[in-house]
This record gives sequence, C-alpha cells and structure tokens, in this order.
Amino acid sequence: MAFKLTALPYAPEALAPHLSARTLEFHHGKHHAAYVKKLNELIVGTNLADKSLEQIIHATAGARDTAKEQAKIFNNAAQVWNHDFYWHSMAPGAGGQPGGALARAIDRDFGSFEKFATCFNQAGVGQFGSGWVWLVMRGGKLSVVKTGNADLPLAHGQTALLTADVWEHAYYLDYQNRRPDYLTAFLAHLANWQFAASNFETAKDKAA
Ligand code: FE2
Repeated sequence: MAFKLTALPYAPEALAPHLSARTLEFHHGKHHAAYVKKLNELIVGTNLADKSLEQIIHATAGARDTAKEQAKIFNNAAQVWNHDFYWHSMAPGAGGQPGGALARAIDRDFGSFEKFATCFNQAGVGQFGSGWVWLVMRGGKLSVVKTGNADLPLAHGQTALLTADVWEHAYYLDYQNRRPDYLTAFLAHLANWQFAASNFETAKDKAA
C-alpha cells in the first residue's frame, strides 16, 4: 500500500513569524512530499511494499551508509518518518519549558532546563551539513543526540521525544544561514512539549 503525505497538524501560516507559511509550504509540500513519492517508487513490487514505515526503516537501517538500493529506501523512509515527527514537534504558540514528569526528568538528566537547551542548541548547530537534533530516551534516561542526513533514533535503539530539522530547507527562507537563531526560536516559540511529554509517557511505560 502506497504511503500518503500526511497533512500538517496546523495551517501553514500558524507558526509565523518564527517559521513562515512559505517555509512550511515548501518544506511540507515539496520536500516532505518528494520523500513520500520517492519511497513509494522504490518499494513498489518489493517485499517491503506492504510493510509499515517503522518496519521498512528497521529492515533497511543496516544498509544506510552503503551505496546499496536499500540505503535509498532507508533514506526516504526515514525522512518521511522524521518529517511526520517534526511537524508534531512544533505547535502554534508553543515553546518555553515543559512541566510535570518530563520537566523533572530533564532536571535529573541535564541538571536544568537551561543546560538541556544549551545542549540541544549546540548539537543542532554542531551537526555538520544536513541532519536532525533530538531529545531522546534510552533505558529510562534522557539525552540529546544529533543525526546526519536521514538517520534517526529509531535506528539506534533510542526513543525520540522531540526533534528539530536542521537541514537548510527547514530554515533558509526565514533565517538564511543563521541556524542558531532558528534553533533559539524553535525552543522559545515552537517546541511542542505536550507532544514530547506524551512520547515520554509512552517510552516510560515501555521501559517499565
Ligand atoms: Fe526537512
């Protein structure tokens, strides 16, 4: 069954002025859509055609740094997953700090929210070239990781809680080369802590 481009969870203009409608229209309507289209072309007629996105990612992750056809499938499947996750990692009028159990876990594992934010921004800025910065959980512990290109926590035994896309296509129209400013705006105004908290609760239940 062919994958479909999932709708944005808000209107394209809903994240302005931090991310413009033009950025979201290009990013979702062109870039994300292209990954969905390419993935469908690559899996049609193969034994992956009836698998879920997560199953395809797991089945092809071992080939991700090779020149094999499977690497192309991994890259496109992972980018579909990553973008679905990214849209939900942001919300209109969001940002700031989480509350509840997630806030306590951030204090426990990073020392403070400010230390987490520094870690997240530094990892995002420090990702050379295209990639992603993530808040993840593994074995009950939170950490910040960065991944290159399409790579993602799922392929490393980690559970993603929140992500920011640091490919230039995510921010260039609004911030040009100023990736640090994009990441600062992401945490201050866009980060969907309700989504992260719900991922945190699910991950905690699985680890228990
Ligand atoms: Fe992207």
